[in-house]
Amino acid sequence: MFARRSVPPTAPAPEPAPGDPRRPAGPGVELRGVAKRFGDITAVAGADLSVPPNGRLGVVGPSGCGKSTLLSMICGLTGPDAGTIDVLGAADAPGRLARCAWMPQRDLLLPWRGVLANARIPLENQGLTRREASQRVRPLLDRFGLAEFADHRPAQLSGGMRQRVSFLRTVAADKPVLLLDEPFGALDSITRADLQDWLRAMLADEPRTVVLVTHDVEEALLLCDRVVVMSARPGRIVASVDVPPYAGTGAAARRARLADPAFIALRDSVLAHLESAR
Ligand SMILES: Nc1ncnc2c1ncn2[C@@H]1O[C@H](COP(=O)(O)OP(=O)(O)OP(=O)(O)O)[C@@H](O)[C@H]1O
Ligand SMILES: [Mg+2]
Repeated sequence: MFARRSVPPTAPAPEPAPGDPRRPAGPGVELRGVAKRFGDITAVAGADLSVPPNGRLGVVGPSGCGKSTLLSMICGLTGPDAGTIDVLGAADAPGRLARCAWMPQRDLLLPWRGVLANARIPLENQGLTRREASQRVRPLLDRFGLAEFADHRPAQLSGGMRQRVSFLRTVAADKPVLLLDEPFGALDSITRADLQDWLRAMLADEPRTVVLVTHDVEEALLLCDRVVVMSARPGRIVASVDVPPYAGTGAAARRARLADPAFIALRDSVLAHLESAR
């Protein structure tokens, strides 16, 4: 349904200069002893995580275990009560925010802006004119099946369409770190598979560091090279599973992967960890 490649029409990027937020320095994303309380509730208790530059980490865990809080702390929008967080060499919250494109669990689309105008917000914030930003975003509208709805306001869209706009806006922001919170949860299974495949192909073409939160274990294993399981609140990392890469894209490669006994064994192992994490 969607074309494979994302790439908005931009010139090939030169090697980032030292100090440039796009230049990998040390780990991609690193958390050491990160904890967060909300009043009496301990949402996250002592999380340690390390994602190499251009690594893709999947995070699964029971509802309420602190997954969204973790993403919000990584990008600097929520301050941890303890521990340190480093994103591509930045330990301060503004530096981390500059390096991350965050797709929140609930889309934060501006109700008074249409689809195109919502999708180009990060590029406008980076200093592009509306015209330039629109030129970069339009090809993605087409690829995500939203071209006919460019001027529709969020209230005129279905939940799945809003989620696609939010996802589009996140990848169009062109940041080196993608934090995706249940990016495809509201989509029908065919559209979800298409977008997963599109994301995989996009990351193969233009690698980025990804932290993907999902309730779908197969999704985590299809898209990520490592999957961690969090325990029920207070959230801790209780298991970590390395995922061997697989070749090919498209429905046939996906079907083969899902039927692969090694993949099934991995999935069962993550599900068993999840079961005991509740
Ligand atoms: N801003 C907040 N103020 C108070 N409590 C909060 C806040 N944000 C999160 N919490 C609490 O922290 C805990 C973890 O919430 P979080 O949204 O991170 O969980 P989650 O793992 O993302 O859950 P889900 O899978 O349902 O999305 C929950 O108990 C939630 O009520
Ligand atoms: Mg959440």
